[in-house]
This record gives sequence, structure tokens and C-alpha cells, in this order.
Amino acid sequence: MEKEIHYSTNIRDAFFRQVIDYVGAGVVITDPSLPDNPIIYTNKAFEKVTGYKTNEIIGQNCRFLQGEKTSREDVARVRKAIKEEQSIIVELLNYRKDGKPFWNELSMYPIFVPSEDKMYFVGVQQDISHRKSEEMRSEDYKQEASLLSTPFVPISEKICILPLVGNINAERWEEIYQRISAHVYEHDDEEIFIMDLQGIQNMNDDVHSGILRLHKLLQVMGARLIVTGIEPRTAKASVKLADFRKKQISFYATVQHALEAIRASH
Ligand SMILES: Cc1cc2nc3c(=O)[nH]c(=O)nc-3n(C[C@H](O)[C@H](O)[C@H](O)COP(=O)(O)O)c2cc1C
Repeated sequence: MEKEIHYSTNIRDAFFRQVIDYVGAGVVITDPSLPDNPIIYTNKAFEKVTGYKTNEIIGQNCRFLQGEKTSREDVARVRKAIKEEQSIIVELLNYRKDGKPFWNELSMYPIFVPSEDKMYFVGVQQDISHRKSEEMRSEDYKQEASLLSTPFVPISEKICILPLVGNINAERWEEIYQRISAHVYEHDDEEIFIMDLQGIQNMNDDVHSGILRLHKLLQVMGARLIVTGIEPRTAKASVKLADFRKKQISFYATVQHALEAIRASH
């Protein structure tokens, strides 16, 4: 009881207390003039989000919500914001009283109360676990889709086919460079990549410059690029072929043709 009086909140007005209780998010107020910036007030939603009763946590620093997997960098950002009396919004992995983790979107800001000539901190806690798991799932889907859209088909130890389909934007090119260079790095050098562009919808300049860059990258890494599936469908495409010829990039009408040529040369 004495503890409650000691940390008695400055929200004396019963009406405002009730209003804050009805806010659909956890609210805590801390007093940085007391040792270790302890909680002096929590609303009902905070109890619901965290599973702790107000009387269990009054007088403590909010860090008791953190645990093993809470990001130390994000906690350091909060610490810095407090030190500099700045507001911050941060997503923290916190733990309920029963040990279950939850994602807490903490909005924290300093409030100066002129009548007391004193600074307090207010924290608003939203449980965003649901949104986070949706985000993580969509990230997984995105990664899977990206792997599916740039498949690697190794047909021997030295030859790998990359049948590309759809549109290749800058992001997909980045993905292709990264995956190919990781592959070459892990495997034997002198590998041959056959990039089949038959399924490419739009043989635009991005594809053209992407191939030239990839050719250069593979050359540096001691591997080789062969391009297939770009029959001169349009006059523009034949200009590109001339360019490939200049850079000595081998190209064939089909993968079949490319494989026959490789076999013949070995
Ligand atoms: C008003 C306020 C609310 C806070 N709420 C949370 C919270 O919900 N979850 C959390 O992990 N940390 C919260 N913190 C941050 C911790 O109390 C503490 O400041 C942080 O862990 C950095 O300090 P430390 O490195 O000394 O632990 C809050 C801080 C303040 C001032």
C-alpha cells in the first residue's frame, strides 16, 4: 500500500483515469526523477496486454517485459530516446507474465507538466503480434516466389540452366546476380550458365544491360554465360544480338542447340 502512495499517480482525476482505462492500448507513465525511471501508472489495457496486475509492476522499470529474444539494438534506441528526451516508436519483442512472447509496438514520448515543473514519460503499448505474423508470412511467400521465378536447373556438375519467365525488373536482376554469384562461389569454377530467355515477355533494355552485367560478373568469377531463346524476333532484338556478339557472349536459338555446341567443344 505504501508503495502505491509513494508512486501515487499524478492522474488524480477519476474521470481521466477512466478515459485512459478505456483506451484500447496499454498506457504507462513513468517518472524519470525517481531512481531507474519507474512506472507510476498503468491502465487496464496494459494489464490485459502483459498479464501483469498494476500492483505487481508499479515502481518497476518497464524492462521487465523484455527477454531473451528482445532486440538489444531496439532497446538501445529506446534508451537513447529517453536520454535525449525524444519520442520514439519501436517494435519490441516482449514477454507476458506467462512467458509467452508478443510483439509490442511501443510509442513513447516525454511530457512536461508545467504545474509540477516536471517531466514524465508516457508509453503506449499495442499488441501487434497478429500484424507481425502476417508480415513474416508475406515475406516468406515473397522469398519463395522469388526463388520460383529464378529457378536453377543443374543438368550436370558444370552446366546449369536458368529458364527465366515473365518480366525481369531491377529487383529480380539483383536476385539473379546474388544467387548466381553465391552458386559460383560455392561450386567449382568454369561452370557454364545457360540463361534461357524464351519465356521473357519483354526483351527491353533492362534485360539487355542485365545480361551484359551478368556476363562480366561471371567472367570475373571464372564462369561462363550462354544466352538462349532470343531469336531475332524484332529488329531491335537483332541490334541486341550484335551487341552480345561484340562482347563475345555465346547465344543460341534454343537450350538444345547450346548443349549440342558445348558437347561438340569438349
Ligand atoms: C514510458 C516508457 C514505457 C516503456 N515501455 C516499454 C515496454 O512496453 N516494453 C519494453 O521492452 N520497454 C519499455 N520501455 C523501455 C525500458 O523501460 C527501458 O527504458 C529500456 O529497456 C532501456 O533502458 P535499459 O537499457 O536501462 O534497460 C519503456 C520506457 C518508458 C520510459
